[in-house]
Amino acid sequence: MNPSLLDAAKAAASNAHAPYSGFGVGAALLLDDGSIVTGCNFENASYGLSLCAEAVALATLNAQGKLRQLREVGIVGGALKDGAIGGKAPVRPCGRCRQILNEAAQLARTDLIVHCASADLSVVEKHRLSDLLPFSFGPQDLGLVQDD
Ligand code: THU
Repeated sequence: MNPSLLDAAKAAASNAHAPYSGFGVGAALLLDDGSIVTGCNFENASYGLSLCAEAVALATLNAQGKLRQLREVGIVGGALKDGAIGGKAPVRPCGRCRQILNEAAQLARTDLIVHCASADLSVVEKHRLSDLLPFSFGPQDLGLVQDD
């Protein structure tokens, strides 16, 4: 894994706007050219409109026209204290984010690698998106991904 991917995710988490949950999350997307795009959670006073870190990062990737360059994702999160996240439990993407990740992963024609880490980076899990979201529905089903 690109060693800086989780560092980038953790740095992004420090910018989380999460005053309601007190839980900061950072997501870092590794592209095929080695560059990294990040996002952090962006909560809302109406609670239900909150955006997850992964969704923010992927929307940024889309805005850059680079969905098809996605290769790996790093996710780091934990309870916020004095603007920094802490904790020893890895954060795994929520169901909605798995589906959003699947959109880019299928367009990028990759079984996405998803690194899920604890805030202190002591625990790092490596998953495939196909394990996190089996039997998925995506752009492939709508004819948007060309076969070889
Ligand atoms: N959160 C994420 O940003 N990504 C996830 O995959 C899990 C949850 C955020 C949403 C909310 O702002 C906070 O974590 C607590 O649920």
